[in-house]
This record gives sequence, structure tokens and C-alpha cells, in this order.
Amino acid sequence: MAFFKKKKHQQLSEEIVLPEHIGIIMDGNGRWAKKRKLPRSAGHNAGGKVFRTISRYCSDIGIKYLTVYAFSTENWKRPEEEINALMKLFKDYLEEALMDFKDDSIVVRFIGDKTHFSDELKALMIENEEGSKDRDGMVLNIAMNYGSRDEIVRAVKSISNDVKNNKLSVDSIDEKLISDNLYTAGQPDPDLIIRPSGEYRISNFMLWQAAYTEFVIMNKLWPDFTTDDLDEAIKIFNNRNRRFGGV
Ligand code: IPE
Ligand code: IPE
Ligand code: MG
Repeated sequence: MAFFKKKKHQQLSEEIVLPEHIGIIMDGNGRWAKKRKLPRSAGHNAGGKVFRTISRYCSDIGIKYLTVYAFSTENWKRPEEEINALMKLFKDYLEEALMDFKDDSIVVRFIGDKTHFSDELKALMIENEEGSKDRDGMVLNIAMNYGSRDEIVRAVKSISNDVKNNKLSVDSIDEKLISDNLYTAGQPDPDLIIRPSGEYRISNFMLWQAAYTEFVIMNKLWPDFTTDDLDEAIKIFNNRNRRFGGV
């Protein structure tokens, strides 16, 4: 963990320790729209704007890794109309992101199974990844068609294949090898996971990686989430006593 160097924001003091890796379960778009008698898609659009503000802010204050949960492997269960609106939003975002982040330092990565998306979306994802991979700033993992159980199944299959092909012995399977076979290979585990919208559950997000993550549940719906709320979550994180099983 790095010590926080204040860059742009006044609320966080110099003594605050920044989490190296933050995860955010961007939840509550539908309820936000319902409260306003708007279609759920309006909530997703509003949530998309907040995502851009918060990812930019995290990069500005010096967060090294940010993982945002945008679409889960279970979200395909939703009505077709909502799925279509989400895919349109992803496409618009990815097209703009290419322009937005042109002169930026952010490394964009997608975690999850890309194969379920349209060819157009897949191409945009790859273009964003390729275009940003040599940068040196914050790593932004966008979890799309991501499910942690699916991720673990993939890791098990890949390791099993290596064992079957005599590339690996059973004895060499350890925690690091499993971590190295996840989408987040090479990245530190999240220090802090924030869930807005007041739900007390993990919803298939980073199950392996979150073994010792601090959770902060906030009562705001994601489209109402502000940079002050992010500061607040970091402050709460700073008051936690992380023991990792020690004393
Ligand atoms: C999160 O908001 C966005 C996605 C899952 C794509 P929701 O759509 O789950 O919003 P609520 O939880 O119904 O309010
Ligand atoms: C988790 O939210 C997934 C995302 C935010 C992308 P959900 O709204 O899908 O989770 P549940 O159904 O409330 O557990
Ligand atoms: Mg939800």
C-alpha cells in the first residue's frame, strides 16, 4: 500500500493511506430510475456517467488498480429490453472511451468472458485494451460478463489441462498458481470493495481475491454516488484494523 499523496482533492488528508486496489459493485441503477418513474435504462445511463467521474477521480488521487463490476454472468437473466439498453450503453461508452482516454495514462482491461458479446463490442474491447496496454497509470478492470465462480472454473480447467499434458505436477498447484490463472493475474488483491445501494452481498464478485478485503456498504444508489462518497469509503477503510489472521 502506498501512502496517499494529495493531488486534487481537499477532503482526504496526507495521513490517509490509500487502498492500492479498490473494487466497486456499481449497484442501484434500477432503483434510482424507479424512484424517478424512469425506465431502468435511464438509471444505467446515469450510472455510466458516475462510473466515468469515479474512475477518473481514482486515477487522479493515485489509486493503482480499480475494478468495477459492470455486468455479471447472471445479469443475462434480465428482460431483453434492459439487456439491449445496456449493450448500447457499453458500445457508446467504449467508443467514447477510446477518444476520452487517448492522451491518458489509464490502462483499460476487461475481465470476464468476452465471447458472449457482439463482434462489434468485442472489437471495441480489444481496441481499448490494445491501445492502453503500454501506459503506466491506473489499471482499470471493467468486469463485463464477469462471474467469480465462472472465473474459478476456467482456472481449474486450465490447470487441469496442464496437468493432463504433463506440463504441471499436482504437487505444484498452490494458491499463487490459482491466482495466476484468474483474470486478475499479476494484480494485487482488492484492499477495499465498495457496494453502494445498501445490499449486503458479494453477488459473485472476486470471491477468491476478496479473502481479506475490507467491505464498505453504502446506502447511496450508484447514480447518486459522488467523489465525496469515495473519500468517505477510503476514510472508513482507514479506520479498519486489518489483521489477516494475525493478532
Ligand atoms: C447495477 O444496477 C447495474 C447492473 C447490474 C448492470 P441494477 O440494475 O442492479 O440496479 P438495481 O439493483 O435494480 O437497483
Ligand atoms: C451485481 O449487482 C452486479 C453488478 C453490479 C454488475 P446485481 O444487481 O446483479 O446483484 P443482485 O442480483 O442484487 O445480487
Ligand atoms: Mg442490482
